[in-house]
Amino acid sequence: MKKLVYIANKKDLTPGQIRRHPELHDVILVCQAPGVFRAVSPSCTHQNWPLDDAYIMEGRIVCPLHGSEFDLETGECLSPPAIDALETYSIVELNDELYVELNQDITVDSGAETVSFGRRRR
Ligand code: FES
Repeated sequence: MKKLVYIANKKDLTPGQIRRHPELHDVILVCQAPGVFRAVSPSCTHQNWPLDDAYIMEGRIVCPLHGSEFDLETGECLSPPAIDALETYSIVELNDELYVELNQDITVDSGAETVSFGRRRR
């Protein structure tokens, strides 16, 4: 069974921004382009580096530590040293609100809100 968890209002995000939901430790939300949002796992698959400050460019998220690139739509790893893909999650938009679709087995617990802004390269 799936559940929807509110993650952000789309008006609050601009291209290149990355948001970590306060109660979802397994997901970060990425604004890839105007009106295009992706949800992926929050850590690089190489050495588990947090992707909160990753670069967003041309449909890819780039790990700031060693530069591995991942396709934001599929999670596929596009360049070493990472090999494994990121997890990806579906996003549902209701009015201007964005919800991430999760499997029931992902835990959602409380915590302080953390918002960060990814750097954008052209
Ligand atoms: S930790 Fe991301 S590429 Fe090494």
